Amino acid sequence: MIGRRFSAAAKTYDRHARPQQALAQAVVSALPELYPEQILELGAGTGQLTRLLIDRFPDVPIDAVDVAEKMVEHSRLKFGKFPRVNWIEADAQTYLTEVPYPLIASSAALHWVSNLRKTFSTIFQCLENDGLFALGMMLGGTLKELRELRQTIAPDKAPSDSLTGYAETEEALHEAGFRVLRKIHSEEQILYDSAEEFFRAIHEQGVTGRRVTGDSEPLTRGELSELVADYQERFAADGGVYATYETAVFLATR
Ligand SMILES: C[S@@+](CC[C@H](N)C(=O)[O-])C[C@H]1O[C@@H](n2cnc3c(N)ncnc32)[C@H](O)[C@@H]1O
Repeated sequence: MIGRRFSAAAKTYDRHARPQQALAQAVVSALPELYPEQILELGAGTGQLTRLLIDRFPDVPIDAVDVAEKMVEHSRLKFGKFPRVNWIEADAQTYLTEVPYPLIASSAALHWVSNLRKTFSTIFQCLENDGLFALGMMLGGTLKELRELRQTIAPDKAPSDSLTGYAETEEALHEAGFRVLRKIHSEEQILYDSAEEFFRAIHEQGVTGRRVTGDSEPLTRGELSELVADYQERFAADGGVYATYETAVFLATR
């Protein structure tokens, strides 16, 4: 399901990926000086973090995993001039490797998994002793304005769950066996030209799914128009509208 949503968004994602770009940058900036022999990236998508890893670690082979078939096809083509990036279609929740990696990185992807603790345990098994896991996560406060408005307009169709919180994510890392070396927590408001542009952006990013905004039952055309109009009115800022993104970067080891 998640795979299909991101496959559909593969061609349009980059134009509207500002919060994801900032998070990928924060993940790379959190890394100390290191010289890994190989890198595993999980949920690589259209490769915003991949691109930064390529620049930061010249000549290092990167295994870039994504669960969405079309996303993998798209990025394999896009990154064709970097044969050291090996694009792999697989689910990060269960992806196990025979040889452990000295560096595993992921940005704006693992909030999609249904069982974060189990996923972290799998990642723990793929990491070398003293290796680094650099994780950028979208957290529960992301798009909170939209969730609040949906609750008012169509309470029976409101999301039944939301993204994990900061403390919960750190706890899940500890439970999987990781030792957290560094953590950065931030909340940022991103401006969009209009509510319409905002809705188009989150749709094209593929983030309009269950865990962020709820898709248990789709909104009717009327409810959608009301949502856009009310969003424009209630969350206006600087000639456009704003949306909150809550994120965290964790640097962990085993
Ligand atoms: C918002 S994109 C972020 C991509 C990229 N890391 C970035 O920084 O722009 C999220 C990606 O995670 C992938 N994804 C979601 N769940 C996944 C899973 N369980 N295993 C692997 N990839 C997953 C999606 O297919 C999508 O390409």
